[in-house]
Amino acid sequence: MTDRELLTLAMDASEKAYAPYSRFKVGAAIECLSGQVFTGCNIENAALGSTMCAERVAIYKAVSEGETEFTRIAIYGESDDYCMPCGSCRQVMSEFSKDMEVLCARRTGGYVSYKLSELIPHTFKFGDL
Ligand code: THU
Repeated sequence: MTDRELLTLAMDASEKAYAPYSRFKVGAAIECLSGQVFTGCNIENAALGSTMCAERVAIYKAVSEGETEFTRIAIYGESDDYCMPCGSCRQVMSEFSKDMEVLCARRTGGYVSYKLSELIPHTFKFGDL
């Protein structure tokens, strides 16, 4: 699958976002080492702290289906600037695949690509416990 195809899945997933509070729709598509892809959207809640980001919805869907190794994640947000993952999502990504590529898209077109280790160096990790 090309970057563009993965980004299109993320954009399509954003249409399912439940975001009545922020009205900011986000979609994510995570590619597993097996080649399988899981998508997610942000899901908000009246108790705002119970809101879940699109990236973690996609990752948790994948993990709950037995996938724990990831190669790329595409993120699409309805913003003018590239939609970057929040700190909590970066930490969750790092739990599984420190070398995954993170593709960040924006409403106005185009995307930027990072290695996860660039976005979150020196993570808190299993060996630290
Ligand atoms: N959001 C995501 O889904 N992913 C991010 O990485 C940043 C923020 C969502 C959460 C909330 O529903 C909305 O964007 C505004 O913060």
